Amino acid sequence: MIKLEDFIDDIINVTAKAALNSYKFVGKGDKNSADKAAVDAMRSELNKIKFSGDVVIGEGEMDEAPMLYIGEKLGKANSPTVDIAVDPLDGTKLAAYNLPNAISVIAIAKSNTLLKAPDMYMEKVAIGPNLPLNLIDLDYSFNDNLSKLAEAKKKLISELCVCILDRPRHKKYIEILKKNNCNIKFITDGDVAGVIYAALKDSKVDMYFGIGGAPEGVLAAAAIKCLNGQFQGRLIFENEEEISRAKKMGITEINKKYNLNDIVKDDVIFSCSGVTNGELVKGVKFNKNRYHVETLLMHDGSKKITKLSKEYDL
Ligand code: FBP
Repeated sequence: MIKLEDFIDDIINVTAKAALNSYKFVGKGDKNSADKAAVDAMRSELNKIKFSGDVVIGEGEMDEAPMLYIGEKLGKANSPTVDIAVDPLDGTKLAAYNLPNAISVIAIAKSNTLLKAPDMYMEKVAIGPNLPLNLIDLDYSFNDNLSKLAEAKKKLISELCVCILDRPRHKKYIEILKKNNCNIKFITDGDVAGVIYAALKDSKVDMYFGIGGAPEGVLAAAAIKCLNGQFQGRLIFENEEEISRAKKMGITEINKKYNLNDIVKDDVIFSCSGVTNGELVKGVKFNKNRYHVETLLMHDGSKKITKLSKEYDL
């Protein structure tokens, strides 16, 4: 029987090395090189692990991504088999322009337990732990979700803080938030971290809402599972080509609303390491000839949630 926890140290090393490699490109204005550096390191570290991993969330589909493509096999053993979801650099622009919150992210789970989401958009909503089950729902109006959450948290709607990507497509939600005098935590990029804010202990953010990448949605859902929060997602198709791509990946019900357990069906490990300084993890630091990389590691099965710093030589 596979024990995911056997791979915790390896997995920390994967995101830490990816963050470190990408750090060379922080503030260089070149998001592709920053991303490629993270991808290269992640792939090389994953190939050292004694498992057989299937990339289910990666840099894209085989014909568009030379590395870490969906379907790629990684690892140096034939067993155990695991699903691997990666975003080697979430916030490529943040890293390129030396802005906060660029992170390197991975989740691993037992084989065939993570949703194989295509590289397109996903509508997402997330809240934290200790709230009534199914409190919020993508099928409720945004106003309803706000009222239900406020009531459950014994707050006024105006006291809620909602995290949202600052995008024109979110105009109608932002207007509702402003009308209700809510606190808005705008993020310019990096919605894996954005979703996590909604479920972190002592976080000021009560809810994450909006449309972002579907791959990032699966990774964020893995973190939310470890944090005992609630998450729903629904794929957004912009054209026929996206529908046929999703169907090829095995998605039959295109309007399906995914609950957390449809996205992450079993135990999961989540790890993210900071490239630039952020609210989840600090960015890479260089001190006394050594690099320091901070990682947030979570394991659902053991309810382990820990933040640690690792040092690497020049
Ligand atoms: P990259 O790191 O791939 O650039 O993605 C950053 C990101 O902000 C994600 O966190 C988010 O899910 C997505 O882009 C949102 O997409 P868009 O920028 O098209 O609104």
